[in-house]
Amino acid sequence: MAVDRERSVVFGQAVDLYESARPGYPDRLVTDILNYAPAGPALEVGAGTGKATAAFAARGVDLTCVEPDPRMAAALAANCPGVRVWSGIFEDYVPDRRFTLLYSAQAWHWVDPERRWDLAYEALAPSGALALFWNHYLITDPDLRAALSEVDHRHGLSSYSLHQDTPVRNEEVQHLLTGDPRFTDLDERSYSRTEWYTADRYLDLVRTISAYRILPPERQEPVLRELGAVLGDGVEMSFVTDLTLARRKPSR
Ligand SMILES: C[S@@+](CC[C@H](N)C(=O)[O-])C[C@H]1O[C@@H](n2cnc3c(N)ncnc32)[C@H](O)[C@@H]1O
Repeated sequence: MAVDRERSVVFGQAVDLYESARPGYPDRLVTDILNYAPAGPALEVGAGTGKATAAFAARGVDLTCVEPDPRMAAALAANCPGVRVWSGIFEDYVPDRRFTLLYSAQAWHWVDPERRWDLAYEALAPSGALALFWNHYLITDPDLRAALSEVDHRHGLSSYSLHQDTPVRNEEVQHLLTGDPRFTDLDERSYSRTEWYTADRYLDLVRTISAYRILPPERQEPVLRELGAVLGDGVEMSFVTDLTLARRKPSR
């Protein structure tokens, strides 16, 4: 499936919302990735405002980040001083070294599916690690989730809206990596936690999701209003981070 370029760069219009409403990533995930990867320089693809970057930088990782949206890149540079930021899409990035780790948080699906595995292979050193992860947001209460999902459906928001509960991205990358002879040592992990979101913070989270962001204001406002009416005071959110790990084979 081709990448929707218009939709892939909608995040920068909402940098502050993105910073305050989007969840980060568990420390255990960072530890597991660093234990899996050989020591050396790391490359992050689609770093955004640095929600994952900050956790890796805090562990002293030598980091280069690729981020195409100039507003996200500016926030990234401010949040994570000391990391190298390359502005542009990964498809245009020419590595100046081989990395022992390439990771991507919530962003690998935005890179051209025809090229992303070749690009990862080329950027990685022999035995270098590939770590791809996504957060899934799920309202814990199934009835509330169904009621919110019903609002989405009524407004024609059925794909990649916030209230779908089928995490397919990791399944897809695992399937593709299993069939790719250039990668080995496939591993998968999952990390769960819950967090209370007030209704306002929840609606801010909704505003950061591309499926809602791309709606023109006259379509977005009624959706937010109706979701807000269903929410009450707030919601308990279950966050699950799914991680796929693989290793570049030394050579072919
Ligand atoms: C959902 S955000 C994730 C940001 C950050 N990694 C996080 O976890 O918060 C997706 C990011 O991918 C970036 N992006 C979109 N297309 C890209 C591409 N082709 N190459 C690299 N990054 C891309 C967007 O600008 C955006 O910052």
